[in-house]
Order: sequence, then structure tokens, then C-alpha cells
Amino acid sequence: MEGVAALEVNISCPNVECGGMAFGIDPFTSARVTETVVRNTDKPVIVKLSPNVTDIKTVAKAVEGAGAHALSLINTLTGMAIDVETRRPKLANGFGGLSGPAIKPIALYMVYQVARTVKIPVIGMGGIMDYKDAIEFLMVGARAVEIGTASFVNPRATLDVIEGIRTYCSENGTREIGEIVGSLKTDQVCSRE
Ligand SMILES: Cc1cc2nc3c(=O)[nH]c(=O)nc-3n(C[C@H](O)[C@H](O)[C@H](O)COP(=O)(O)O)c2cc1C
Repeated sequence: MEGVAALEVNISCPNVECGGMAFGIDPFTSARVTETVVRNTDKPVIVKLSPNVTDIKTVAKAVEGAGAHALSLINTLTGMAIDVETRRPKLANGFGGLSGPAIKPIALYMVYQVARTVKIPVIGMGGIMDYKDAIEFLMVGARAVEIGTASFVNPRATLDVIEGIRTYCSENGTREIGEIVGSLKTDQVCSRE
């Protein structure tokens, strides 16, 4: 795998042996997939978590324990859209993945929870449309971000976000981006979280 820096493993896909269940909704199967990939590569393994779970921290801990080098989250949330005239789902499979700005608050909360739970680096994503969105993810503990949907609207979105973060840093006296990571002031956040 010349030129590949790391592997990002999407564990949200269906496992045919387990009746189509997504690997990523169960801590045990998530850990097994992680172990298998880690054992078979010398590249860093980033495991991408599904938000379609009750407690994402449990899956994150299982995957960290199985040897993942980093986590990325979130994948899409499962959703539906209905055509009221035909009474049929608008999506060919009946349901599909919801991404973009609608999922950002959920993604931020999950990144916040996971970044406080694991020691390995967390990469945040979900609805990042501009540099301020990206900085929010850094503030809740992400060490890096990924951008999906925004690129469909603006193919330069990633470059614009990098430029925006650079300007934010120089305007705020931030010498390096690591100073922003986890810098959220948590005095108003419930201590249970
Ligand atoms: C059209 C489309 C295709 C996607 N395909 C994949 C995929 O093949 N594997 C994967 O792990 N995530 C896939 N995703 C999920 C994104 O990588 C990302 O986790 C999610 O959309 C949230 O980020 P965003 O709001 O910036 O798009 C896809 C998202 C979209 C919109």
C-alpha cells in the first residue's frame, strides 16, 4: 500500500454473517473487526464509529481496547423521507444516511463524549460547513476534522476551512492549533457528562 498513510475502517456496514447487523452497533463485533485489521496491517488504523447506537462511549472504549490508533466520528444517522402522493419512501432502499448541518449538534456531543473517554486521538466530523464548525469540533476535543457534505456544496470547502482556521488563530493569538483542542470551558456542562 505505497502512498497510503493510514487506514480508516468504516464499521457501519452490514455484517452478512450476523444477519445484516452493522458491526459498529455492537462493542464486541466492533472490537473483533478492529483487532483483525490491526493484526493485518502495519499502517495506523483509524476506526470510524456509527452514531446509530445507544452509548457511543462503550463502542469507543471497546475499539480502543482492541488496538485502534485513532477514532473518527460520526458516520451518518439513519433516516427516512416519504413521498406523500405515492406513499412510498423517497430513497431507493427505504432509508439512508443523513449528513450535513442537521447532524452537527449530535456529532459535536458524541465527539465531546468520546474525546473525554478514550486516550487515542479523535477525528471529528458531521455537518462541518465552515471554519467555525471545524473549530467547535476542535474545542470539544477532536484533534482533526473531516469534511464530507460541504464539499458537494462547495468543492473548495476544505481549503476554505483551513484558511478560516489560520485567520482565527492569528486573530486570537493562537500559536498552534493544538491550543484549541479540548479548550471548551465546561463550567456550564453537567458533571455527569
Ligand atoms: C454521499 C455520501 C457518501 C458517503 N459514503 C461513505 C462511505 O462510503 N463510507 C463512510 O465511512 N462514510 C461515508 N459517508 C459518511 C461521511 O463520510 C460522514 O461521516 C458523514 O456524512 C458526516 O459528515 P458530513 O456531514 O461532513 O458529510 C458518506 C456521506 C455522504 C453524504
